[in-house]
Amino acid sequence: MSAPTVAWFDGALVPFADARVPIEDRGLQFGESLYEVVAVSDGEPRLLAQHAKRMSESAKLLGIESGVPLPERWQELTGELLRRERLVEALLIAQVTGGTAPRAHLPAEPPEPSFFAYLRPFRFPRAEEVRRGIRAITRPDVRWALSDLKTSMLLPAVMARREAAARGAAEALFVGEDGNVREGAASNVFLIERDRLLTPARSHHLLPGLTGPLVEGLARRLGLEVGAAEIPVERLLRAGEVFVTSTTLLVMPVVEIDGHAIGAGCPGPRGEALGALLREAWKLD
Ligand code: PDD
Repeated sequence: MSAPTVAWFDGALVPFADARVPIEDRGLQFGESLYEVVAVSDGEPRLLAQHAKRMSESAKLLGIESGVPLPERWQELTGELLRRERLVEALLIAQVTGGTAPRAHLPAEPPEPSFFAYLRPFRFPRAEEVRRGIRAITRPDVRWALSDLKTSMLLPAVMARREAAARGAAEALFVGEDGNVREGAASNVFLIERDRLLTPARSHHLLPGLTGPLVEGLARRLGLEVGAAEIPVERLLRAGEVFVTSTTLLVMPVVEIDGHAIGAGCPGPRGEALGALLREAWKLD
């Protein structure tokens, strides 16, 4: 897949190779930074306004909201990137950081936040990959207490995915001290019990994903009841079906957790059907 050629960087379109953050960027030095990953399929960004809203709401809490473009601006800059890169299937990566200032936790003068965005060519999983599903492991959730913010402090997710890969799995599911499953390293988790689709309730411990609610809407169309529940690991292991959702995985069945088969050890019909409906809606054939 080709490399990006251009990026938006602090209000200008620049060659990708020139888009570099200074070493005193507060995102780099303090983790003061939020990101979004937006699906682009059939040449269209998906759920762009919702991604913009999620970033700007979190940025208010961090005090860096002035760096987040307005929703109309997101549309324009994505359109321009798409014209330049000529991609039909890609991920839009966008990030806002606290900007650059002489290193201090509280700089004497708050700097202007920095914002960048670019497109990476990407191929979304299709029916063949979904038919195989993925294996997952569980890991203690060692992240901070505000995991509902999409900050770029992703080291726990990177380490958990590394551990998963070492054990032949593709995702790690974070479990709280109460024994309940929260979410994946980079996905939300769902289970199906009879005709009910369940996911952990919204809290500070998990990201309010944008793919999940879309899939819940599709599930209602399939006649499933949709709700929130506490999900101890044992409940997940007993479920008829488990799947994770994210911008990059769409709806991905989980066929094994910590070596235990889920359901019949292969993707269940509802997960596969929901994945197919989402690919249809996003014109991914
Ligand atoms: N991550 N939970 C976490 C911790 C995530 O990082 C993600 C997505 C999700 C799903 O959110 P959404 O449906 O809005 O993509 C849940 C992105 C894809 C990433 O870090 O690459």
